[in-house]
Amino acid sequence: MELGLGGKVAVITGGTQGIGKATAIRLAAEGARVVICARGQPLLESTAAEIRAAGGTVHAVSADVSKPEDCARIVAETLSAFGGIDILVNNAGTSATGEFESATDDVWQADFDLKLFGAIRLIRLAVAHMKARGGGRIVNLANIGAKQPGARTMPTTVTRAAGLAMTKALSKEYAPHNILVNAVCIGLIRAGQHDRRAAQRGIDTEAMYQEMGKNVPLGRVGRAEEAANVIAFLVSDAASFVTGSSVNLDGGASAVF
Ligand SMILES: NC(=O)c1ccc[n+]([C@@H]2O[C@H](COP(=O)([O-])OP(=O)(O)OC[C@H]3O[C@@H](n4cnc5c(N)ncnc54)[C@H](OP(=O)(O)O)[C@@H]3O)[C@@H](O)[C@H]2O)c1
Repeated sequence: MELGLGGKVAVITGGTQGIGKATAIRLAAEGARVVICARGQPLLESTAAEIRAAGGTVHAVSADVSKPEDCARIVAETLSAFGGIDILVNNAGTSATGEFESATDDVWQADFDLKLFGAIRLIRLAVAHMKARGGGRIVNLANIGAKQPGARTMPTTVTRAAGLAMTKALSKEYAPHNILVNAVCIGLIRAGQHDRRAAQRGIDTEAMYQEMGKNVPLGRVGRAEEAANVIAFLVSDAASFVTGSSVNLDGGASAVF
């Protein structure tokens, strides 16, 4: 399938680990010029080097997407490096869940700032440049709990539900500008956040993934490359009539579409 991504400029937040890294590698392999951002400098450098070694074009920005000034710098550096923006993948994020009564205002605010306001600010900054190029693609990462929130899943499920509402509203607002906006609802994917949790708990990472996969209908946890495949499709020419949609990427785990 021809994805038509050659020469496109794609910003991927959180592009140094897990799903974001796999997406950056995939889009760069398809010929896109990619901008990756994250807070940690060593992984930014090693990921950029990996993409360049494979023949890709990449610009790395050290940034925290929960800070407005860093969002502005991501867009400014993208314009300066590559002259425009065609694709924005709002991927940076992590899980924040627990007992409702133990989540303070600061915990809620931090989750909104990272996973909702980061996307709001970057989209607001990027759309003018997408309009100028005759269109664009935005993919917002979410989780399957956004549509079926369970006990002790906040603030993540609330933040993600807001992200899905924003995705749908933006898809309608920007359709006249050929800016297509979609979401991917992740179930369980092998990634840095799970690896770090295993290390913190002193448990074997592979054994943990085996255990996590038992409750997934396909019998396993997904791979970051499998998420990257879906994101690459959504930002490609092949998905030119897809907007305002959310794709469950969960091996069948979700009870709802
Ligand atoms: N993997 C899953 O099972 C799963 C499930 C549901 C939803 N998701 C969602 O999918 C997305 C990707 O998750 P993942 O599992 O691939 O995560 P991951 O492996 O932990 O990678 C997260 C990436 O985001 C970056 N990041 C984190 N906070 C950031 C910030 N404030 N500013 C800029 N970059 C930041 C990290 O780099 P630094 O730490 O260096 O900044 C890293 O590059 C997230 O939004 C996550 O919530 C994942």
